[in-house]
Amino acid sequence: MFIELDCPASVRKQLGKLFAEALKQTVPTEPDIVPLIDACIAKDGVKHADYQCNNAMSLFAKIKGKQEEFKSPRSLGEGIMKNLPPSEMIESCSVAGPGFVNIVLSKKWIAQRLQKMLTDGIDSWAPRLPIKRVLVDFSSPNIAKEMHVGHLRSTIIGDTLSRMLEFCQPECLIRRNHIGDWGTQFGMLIQYLFETYPNPDDVNESDIGDLQAFYKASKSKFDKDDDFKLNAQQSVVKLQGGDPKYRKAWEQICNISRTEFKKVYQRLGIRLEEMPESFYNELIPPTLEKLDQLGLIEDSDGARVIFVDGVDIPLIVVKRDGGYNYFSTDLAALWYRLNIEKVDWNIYVTDFGQSQHFDMLFKAFKRAGWLPEDKNEYPICTHIGFGLVLGVDGKRLRSSCGDTIRLVDLLNEAKEQSKTALLKRGNAKEWSKEEIEKASEAIGYGAVKYADLKNNKTTNYTFSFEQMLNDKGNTAVYLMYAHARICSIIRKSGKDIEELKKTGTMVLDHENERTLALHLLQFTEVFVEACSNLLPNVLCEYLYNLAEIFTKKFYSNCQVVGSPEETSRLLLCEATLVVMRHCFYLLGIEPVDKL
Ligand code: ARG
Repeated sequence: MFIELDCPASVRKQLGKLFAEALKQTVPTEPDIVPLIDACIAKDGVKHADYQCNNAMSLFAKIKGKQEEFKSPRSLGEGIMKNLPPSEMIESCSVAGPGFVNIVLSKKWIAQRLQKMLTDGIDSWAPRLPIKRVLVDFSSPNIAKEMHVGHLRSTIIGDTLSRMLEFCQPECLIRRNHIGDWGTQFGMLIQYLFETYPNPDDVNESDIGDLQAFYKASKSKFDKDDDFKLNAQQSVVKLQGGDPKYRKAWEQICNISRTEFKKVYQRLGIRLEEMPESFYNELIPPTLEKLDQLGLIEDSDGARVIFVDGVDIPLIVVKRDGGYNYFSTDLAALWYRLNIEKVDWNIYVTDFGQSQHFDMLFKAFKRAGWLPEDKNEYPICTHIGFGLVLGVDGKRLRSSCGDTIRLVDLLNEAKEQSKTALLKRGNAKEWSKEEIEKASEAIGYGAVKYADLKNNKTTNYTFSFEQMLNDKGNTAVYLMYAHARICSIIRKSGKDIEELKKTGTMVLDHENERTLALHLLQFTEVFVEACSNLLPNVLCEYLYNLAEIFTKKFYSNCQVVGSPEETSRLLLCEATLVVMRHCFYLLGIEPVDKL
């Protein structure tokens, strides 16, 4: 766990309070016992209770012989149960096995909690972070190199983490795009630009829209032509020295990339605030100066380096030619975030390949005394690494000609394939053209995001359109069907839900209604688990289970429209919609209302 969240709305938390009382009463000599409360898991489809308190066993070992009245963990469990303060949330309790205290919640209480959420909105379920300012550094592609699937993962995961943290309403959440717009590749690109367009006013940015091809062409010239290489190297010096002609060319190239990136962000619904590498350029010398004064920087073979604990190789902060690198920039950037932006928690989202980079960065800051040496109460810097995106052949995902796949092409393909599948299923026949376009995008992009997020991010994942666009199994398409089904039930009823919320009452007499309702209430604690561990896949699993419970348990056994329980069941459908939509929102997926 990275961080502890306070969630007053969680059932576990509320039961925890009751049991804390009971434990204190039962064993007064151990006043600090933390209640251990878990949701019960069904065995062979049967669940004996909703929650259980697991303290008796370990607590008994502690007090053995000190409190005569308790002869066994089980008798201690019974003691705890007797001392539970009366509460309207509990229907019944019992002691099972070696001393588990089983709790069955009151269905009236469950219904009331859900109705209250419907009136107050899902934000009333939000947990709170113990810190104020959070920064998520994600996406962060490099200029002139097209965005590729590695950046796609960072973009999708980073966006979801930001949304999850935003739900906890910190004072400020920064979604930072640390764009790579500074580096030696620019010498080559600028030189190539000058040669292709001798008159800079002739440069039409849309003409060199395909920067990947432009990059390739200039790189091949760089590798072959020595004069060109020399000129390119001098261009970097001129650019870094601030020569206006070179600055302008650099800006032109950056703008082309930015336009491309923006298109991808727009399609995926991603908000980002750009603070590119070049922004920190002037901050690098003073940051290095401070580190130098602290005695951290050493000379090594003409370069300037920092050694950190447990790593043999030093990190280079000034190259032999006097230039700065990716690392120097990150030193200055972190210094700026901690001291100027006053960020409490910095989260970096990149592939695992950069784990050592961040490990060394944080260690250097610890050596300087700029980050606490021991484990702090809250994390200050966290690197979230993720695995590779693999093709169906099990190798790193590439296009058919062996190049890295361009993100725009991948999104186009996702949209086209989802459109084909949509038309094939037949339901969309009477839809307008716009409706089909909109749904194909929502499903196509949603499928790409969900296929990524549902995996534990540490593993590599296999990219397959066929799998992600399947309407069965754990896919976005399946989830969207469940969502559309609920929308259709509500539409068919012809009832004004806002009115029902005010006048209707939810009753949970059918077993499957109760199961669905309890799962909805448990959103809070699952969210706490997902967010405090920064694990979007936990949220995906919850959403999938919600769709399953709705479809297989509730929908197939409980008639809604036209039944005597219509009002109550419509309210339950609406509560399901609210929670489901919120999950979709947190995952950055736009659900469709009909399918
Ligand atoms: N531009 C880098 C890349 O494409 C990712 C940057 C991550 N953020 C950072 N502060 N280093 O690999």
